[in-house]
This record gives sequence, C-alpha cells and structure tokens, in this order.
Amino acid sequence: MNEKREHFSSRIGFILAAAGSAVGIGNMVGFPVAATKNGGGAFLIVYALFVAFICIPIMLAEMGLGRRTQSDPQGAYVGIAGAASKWRFAGWLAVITPFMIGIFYMVVTVWILGYFVYALTGQLDVIADPSHFGVFINSKSVFVYLIAVAAIVYLILVMGVRRGIEVAARIMMPALFIMLLAMVVFVLTLDNAFAGVKFYLIPDFSAINGSVLSGALSQAFFSLSLGMGILITYGSYLQKHHDLIGAAKMVAVADTLVAFTAGLMVLPAIFAINPATTAADLSDSSVAMIFTFLPKIFMALEASIGYLGASFIATVFFLLALFAAITSLVSIVEVPTATLVRKYKLNRNKALGILALTMGTLTLLATASFGMLDTFTNFIQYGGKQKSFFDLIEDIFYNTVLPFNGLLICLFVVWYWRQDNFNDSLSEGNANYKSSWLQKYMNFSLKTFIPVILAVIFVNTVLDIYFGMPLF
Ligand code: PHE
Repeated sequence: MNEKREHFSSRIGFILAAAGSAVGIGNMVGFPVAATKNGGGAFLIVYALFVAFICIPIMLAEMGLGRRTQSDPQGAYVGIAGAASKWRFAGWLAVITPFMIGIFYMVVTVWILGYFVYALTGQLDVIADPSHFGVFINSKSVFVYLIAVAAIVYLILVMGVRRGIEVAARIMMPALFIMLLAMVVFVLTLDNAFAGVKFYLIPDFSAINGSVLSGALSQAFFSLSLGMGILITYGSYLQKHHDLIGAAKMVAVADTLVAFTAGLMVLPAIFAINPATTAADLSDSSVAMIFTFLPKIFMALEASIGYLGASFIATVFFLLALFAAITSLVSIVEVPTATLVRKYKLNRNKALGILALTMGTLTLLATASFGMLDTFTNFIQYGGKQKSFFDLIEDIFYNTVLPFNGLLICLFVVWYWRQDNFNDSLSEGNANYKSSWLQKYMNFSLKTFIPVILAVIFVNTVLDIYFGMPLF
C-alpha cells in the first residue's frame, strides 16, 4: 500500500468528484426519456427505491473497499485476497471494464463537443437537420474533436487527484448545476411547458412490468457509476477521517436530483414545440435524442426567441452535456491510470501516454464503425442481429459486464472480505455506523437479495442480447 497516495483535499472535493462521475450523459437525456416512456412518476418512485435500497449498498461496498485498501480495483482485490487468488481476475475485469466503456463514452463525448461547436458558431440550422448527424459522424472533423477531448482529459488527469480531478469537478459541477437550473427556469416560461411536466410526472403504475423494473435498475446502476471500479478508486482517495457514508448518500442524491431536473428541462422544451408529442415519438436511444431530436427542438425555438436566442439555448445545452461527459470520462480513465501507476510504477504522464495510444486506437476503430469502415460497421453477428464494433463494446461491457462486476463486488465484500472488516472500514469517520439500522440493512441486503437480483439481471441480459430470448 502506498503511503504517499494522493487524497482529495476535503470531503466535498470527493463528493463533487464522485458526483462528477455519476452525473453524465445518462442523466441528461437517458433518464428523462426512460421515465417518460415507462410510467412517469411511477418510474421515478421505482427508480428512487432502487437507488436507496440497492445501489447505495453497492456504492458503499465499492467506496469502503477502495478506502480500506487504498488502491485501484485490481490492487484492492489482490490486496485482500492475495496475488494468487482467483479474485485477481475480478480485479482485472474491474479495470478492463472502464477501459472499454471509456472508448464507448469517448465517442459520444466527441460528438457532443462537435455539436457544441456547431451551436456556438451559429450553425444550429445545420445540426437541426436530423440527417446531418450521419454526415457529421463520418466526417474528418470527428478526428479533430477526438484529439481535443483526449487532450482535455489528459490535461485534467496528468495534474493528479487534487489539482486535476478535484479542481475540474469543483469548477464544472457547480457550473453544470447553475446552467441546468437556468435552462429549467427558461424552458418553464414557454407556452405549453407544463403539459410536458405533466407528461413526465403523472404516474402510470400499469406501465411497470419486469422489463421496466430491470431497465430502471440498470439505469440507476449506470448512472451512479457502479460496477466500474471508479468508486473503488475514488474511495481510495478519500481520507480516513472523513465520513464516507454521508458522502455516498450525497452523491446518490445529487445524481438523482440532476437526472430528475434534466427531465424538467427536456420534456417541457419538447412539449412547447410540439404539444401533441407522444411517448412513441421519443427515441429509446439517448444518442438519437441528443443529436437528432433535440437540435430540431432548439431550432424551433427560433419562432419565439429568434435564431440567436435559440442558438444560445442549444449552446448551453451542449456545454452542460459536455461538462457532464468530461467529468465522467475523467473518472473512467482514472481507473486504468491508477492501476498502471501502482502496478507498474509508472508516473501519471507515462500511464496516460500508454492509455492515449491504446484507448485512442480503439476509439478510432469505434468511431469508424458508423459507416466509415465496413469491417467495423458490420463487425459481427449474434442474437439474430448485425452489430458494429461500437455495438459489440456496448453490449459486452456496458450491458453485460457492468452488472456482473456489481455482483462480484457484493460477493467479495460480504463473503470473502467479511462483514467485520467491511463494517470497520465504513465506520471510520462515522462512529455511529456500527450501531445503525443502515449497517444491519447493508449486511443483510448485500448477502442476500442484492446479489440475487444482479445475477438475474445478468442472466436475462445474456439471454436477451446474445440469444435473442429474454426472460422478461
Ligand atoms: N454515470 C454516468 C452517466 O450517467 C456514466 C458513467 C458510467 C460514467 C460509468 C462513468 C462510469 O452518464
């Protein structure tokens, strides 16, 4: 264990950085659309219950493990189970997962930067044409944006935990909150805005079924950045005397609030432009919503606030999404960085150089899998569908491995590491934890139904994606 390990300067620094990881592209559009299509307020209630009763225990398991071992996921598993243990594979998986999801996330961040530049430079009319997206993602300018995003992430990470990750979160997260609130206030002044709010919030309990429940849990899981080793790594940068429990709750609340608030921005805007919108008009895909649907909505604002006003709103939206994406991307890349630095004794600069080369190459291939190169566009076939290289990464790592990593973490913490050690770790900085109901709930739930639920989701996903026959 490394005595000189760098730590966040304060608890709030940790909370902002972890919230920066959690608040991402998934919050801005994915959550509002999922809620609207799947029971509105009923979805919100189910989602909040999942966050509180399933995700927070897993979150604490990751953070507690990280803080106790003072290590990245690979070092954390090995530090407790020993270098020869089979658990070391779980450690590697928790490093490879962010490495691969980073590629997927990077591609989307690059597009967001591109659309931000379009909106900023007065070209809202260009991106408002839905067919432009296909042109843009196959254009050479994508490579320029790719280099720009890589440079931003590099510059943040090379500065380290305190002066890089923490400073970026301290600047971008408050800016993001302010922009989001300002957007909501503006959007709610538009005619018909409240029809959108109603559409978003009125509960329809009949819409809740097995697949909605599993979708809500997956959304919550992804949104809180679980199963990625990120919270293990960030937990290792939290000082021992800080209260980890309270911090975890704040991160979960902040993430959920941002997702909820994003709905108050997106849906009223859509309804103000087209009051006859139905749930079927909204695409399940966040990518389609961000890059084809919303630009059209922003453009239509021209009628009420002029082209300049509409461009301004679109620019703020893409900047907001960009900040959300960058702080998430930083957290994803930090996991393999921390592993390389510890295990191979590299300095951060070298570790980031290696990642830039490897992740960069794979990102290029993923970028080329939208039509640019046929081999990568029609990469493979399974589950009765033709898939691109990008789809493959998304299916394997995002849809399949993420819940599997969550399952492994639960099993490791309560069955292998043991309750007492886990409880000791969490009670550092929070003396009341050991006698609390939360402690009892945590130990019970992580030992029983949480791993069972994650295992069921995992099996269902595998059957669905690779064999085309979901259980529910
Ligand atoms: N939580 C982020 C979001 O909602 C995504 C993310 C997932 C970030 C996993 C890091 C790790 O978009």
